Amino acid sequence: MKSLLTMKDFSWKEIEKLIDLAADVKKTPSKYSAKLQGKTLLMIFEKPSLRTRLSFDVGMMELGGFTITIDTASTPLGEKESIEDTAKVCSRYVDCIMARLFEHEKLVKLSKNSSVPVINGLTNDHHPVQILSDLLTIKEKKRKLKGLKLCFLGDGNNNITNSLIIGCNLAGMKISVGCPKDEKPRKELLGDFSAYVTHDATEAIKDADIVYTDSWMSYHVEPSKKKERIEKFMPYQVNSGLIKHAKKDFIFMNCLPAMRGYEQTAEIIDGKHSVVFDQAENRLHMQKAILLELLQ
Ligand code: CP
Ligand code: NVA
Repeated sequence: MKSLLTMKDFSWKEIEKLIDLAADVKKTPSKYSAKLQGKTLLMIFEKPSLRTRLSFDVGMMELGGFTITIDTASTPLGEKESIEDTAKVCSRYVDCIMARLFEHEKLVKLSKNSSVPVINGLTNDHHPVQILSDLLTIKEKKRKLKGLKLCFLGDGNNNITNSLIIGCNLAGMKISVGCPKDEKPRKELLGDFSAYVTHDATEAIKDADIVYTDSWMSYHVEPSKKKERIEKFMPYQVNSGLIKHAKKDFIFMNCLPAMRGYEQTAEIIDGKHSVVFDQAENRLHMQKAILLELLQ
């Protein structure tokens, strides 16, 4: 039994297989429509979600299975009973658990005590299903992964950045992170995986094939920090001035949700380089591939 908690849980060979499977699922969905018949996915949410919730729900349905959703506002996790007990009980009812939690450690505990596969639907530290889907999108757009340069601009100390760094390292891609000094990727979460980190956005974006940004106000960030963070991250906004330093045919990515005028301007996210809605669509195809891989 295998779980997916971080990008480190799959080897590059396994990821390549997932990308090929996801591409086939996308091309011929009918081939897979009964593959998970009778299987049930439990989805646990401590944080809000649009894409993750819908894409897993629709994906499971399109594979012939079912989902059950628990919103922890009505069923708190780890309060009335331990996470260990919750994991053991849930494992008796369902075939797989997908959880979106605040603390990554809580997800690890859930997984250690589950007898069914656990999928990370985002924690404060990692978002592997997003980055696996993004690798599919990059491959579709650029026809390759190895050797490409991805530049991430903005909050260097978040789930997307961590998972991107691991994913790019595994894929043989170069990654530069342009971020404020006090919002750098945390080494303890990355182990041997690394990125070129700079506080100069122009240097980071130079000759990039892919320009990626993410919310400055992640779900786990205190709303009271908004004003201070806008000031801190504004030098890393993806805008028409900055993109002049990227490659001419760069693609713009954002995992969404996005705010125009903050991490990118409207002309960038709505412009010709943007692939953000293909990115969102590919969540569906990649997650179907992940479910097939873990549940068959
Ligand atoms: N990108 C992503 O995970 O979106 P949601 O927060 O809407 O699920
Ligand atoms: N970094 C963002 C990703 C949203 C999909 C967050 O954690 O809110």
